[in-house]
Amino acid sequence: MRSHYCGQIDDSLLGQSVSLCGWVNRRRDHGGVVFIDLRDREGIVQVVVDPESPSAFQTALHVRSEYVLRIQGIVRYRPPGTENSHLGTGTLEIAGHTVEVLNHAEPPPFAIEDETHASEEVRLRYRYLDLRRPEMLRRMRIRAEVVHLVRHFLDSHGFLDIETPFLTKTTPEGARDYLVPSRTHPGHCFALPQSPQLFKQLLMMSGMDRYYQVVRCFRDEDLRADRQPEFTQIDIETSFMDENGIMDRMESMVRELFARVLGVALPDPLPRMTYAEAMHRFGSDRPDLRNPLELVELSDVMREVDFKVFADPACDPLGRVAALRLPGGNDLPRSAIDAYQQFVATRGGKGLAYIKVNDLHRGRAGLQSPIVKFFSDEVLVEVLNRTGAETGDVIFFGADRASVVNESLGALRLRLGEDRGLVVRGWRPLWVVDFPMFAQDAATGRWTALHHPFTAPQTESLDELRATPGTILSRAYDLVLNGTELGGGSIRIHRSEMQEAVFGLLGIGAEEAEEKFGFLLKALRYGAPPHGGIAFGLDRLVMLMTGSASIRDVIAFPKTQTATCLLTGAPATASQEQLRELGIRFGQPVGVGKADQTRTKHELQA
Ligand code: AMO
Ligand code: AMP
Repeated sequence: MRSHYCGQIDDSLLGQSVSLCGWVNRRRDHGGVVFIDLRDREGIVQVVVDPESPSAFQTALHVRSEYVLRIQGIVRYRPPGTENSHLGTGTLEIAGHTVEVLNHAEPPPFAIEDETHASEEVRLRYRYLDLRRPEMLRRMRIRAEVVHLVRHFLDSHGFLDIETPFLTKTTPEGARDYLVPSRTHPGHCFALPQSPQLFKQLLMMSGMDRYYQVVRCFRDEDLRADRQPEFTQIDIETSFMDENGIMDRMESMVRELFARVLGVALPDPLPRMTYAEAMHRFGSDRPDLRNPLELVELSDVMREVDFKVFADPACDPLGRVAALRLPGGNDLPRSAIDAYQQFVATRGGKGLAYIKVNDLHRGRAGLQSPIVKFFSDEVLVEVLNRTGAETGDVIFFGADRASVVNESLGALRLRLGEDRGLVVRGWRPLWVVDFPMFAQDAATGRWTALHHPFTAPQTESLDELRATPGTILSRAYDLVLNGTELGGGSIRIHRSEMQEAVFGLLGIGAEEAEEKFGFLLKALRYGAPPHGGIAFGLDRLVMLMTGSASIRDVIAFPKTQTATCLLTGAPATASQEQLRELGIRFGQPVGVGKADQTRTKHELQA
């Protein structure tokens, strides 16, 4: 049917007859000739049809946008002065002598071009048209290339591609499960995996040594620009390798990807930062290092000040007082500072004290602030020194529980970086290491796993773990790029006693552990090798590599923020017959809209 792709027409084909298939990007009539821009996956070429080919001409006169055509013609140069430098094929055209309509098309609801004004809703409803836009095609292509390179890298490093079940038991990664009712076991459900975590560990216990899978994962949680209910992981596990070995290999893979796909040289080795340092300096465990602003510790300085709002958290071991200096920020009007105060309030911040440094050399008189009256001269000098304040700056303050200060000032840091154009271009990857094993829920006092319950602690001692769970670090590592968590992994627990102890600390009693994870505990007793791994979010990786604003833009058929598919209308009701077979009768849904009662780990961290 076709001899060449439209976008592949070049001057090596001059004078040759070609047969092209594609969509009408645009048709114009000009002085008795018809011009058709014919588009296919590889690009666009201009076809000229004149009345010398009467039948082709008649057909060409009546084609419309998005008609599917087959055109035969001769490749020739465009007349001088009519070249189009925006098109890859812009110096050439096809003198068309046959035009065959393979299919008609209704007028599309939006023009198939990169600059679209269509809303995302319309784009998702007509996703097959949206995907015809060259920009979407470019993203799908890069995605395919990334997957290809990842597979090639892992294949050549001895990793085996092994599939694991989708219909399975719960695999906790901190989200809610998607459940699939079983027909053959009434009242029982499969859970779709939140990740293949347990199976990949079992594969290590099976002696597979090195495993990988490019695999769909399912998580029912609040969605955001970088989160989908089903998403793809590059999932990896290996035996007999410690965290340094795993991080080294994984960063080689990521470096190779960036070099090959984008021609970008990432640092070698990638920098590493402890969780504690990341929280101190950036208020976040996924710091965006392109933003130069940093938090400054003031807890030790504020213990004695005559301002309870600061002194109380400064004296509380779980509290924190920190500052954030915005260079050149004393031009911010009161209204802007109020707006930032409201912004931190959405992150739990109870206020946003500030000092405007109008003239550093005039001492107190050169400062404008609602709080300097509470500070002694020594405290004031220390604040100005530590923050590195200069004339023209503004310094913001946060005082509260450390988690609130980190969350609110960390978010303000990002917001100020954006608003003031401080974020530099480029790629700033880093590993974050030495995470705490557990986080304690402030309300209930219960411990939760910061990574997942299968992550090994940095101690081998069960007594130490039980005595001081709050200070034990884990053998987990996250790869962060420009403020996005691209991947996370850990060395796993490979002894059943340790796994039972960790379950115990997490409030999973022996009975529940046996019921949910008995198969894992048993497998750990049959010669489980030391092992560890990682999973990268493929969608997030491609989102960053293509400069997309949302992971929806790099997934062919994504879901909306409310986890629906606008194209197919899923989820949909099931027939009475299907429900009867499954023994299901729907009542009034509980909890929907009252998400606070059933918040997942990720939603709480968000
Ligand atoms: P984790 O839960 O950190 O680890 O997930 C690994 C990576 O998957 C991506 N990711 C997501 N991407 C899009 N939408 C989502 N809802 C979503 N959730 C996670 C992120 C994240 O870094 N089993 C462990 C890995 C391991 O320990 O080996 C796990 O799943 O980029
Ligand atoms: P007040 O004495 O309540 O008027 O507060 C004085 C200043 O401290 C105001 O600018 C408040 O925004 C600020 N402030 C109040 N609580 C906090 C807090 N927890 N962290 C930082 N600043 C605060």
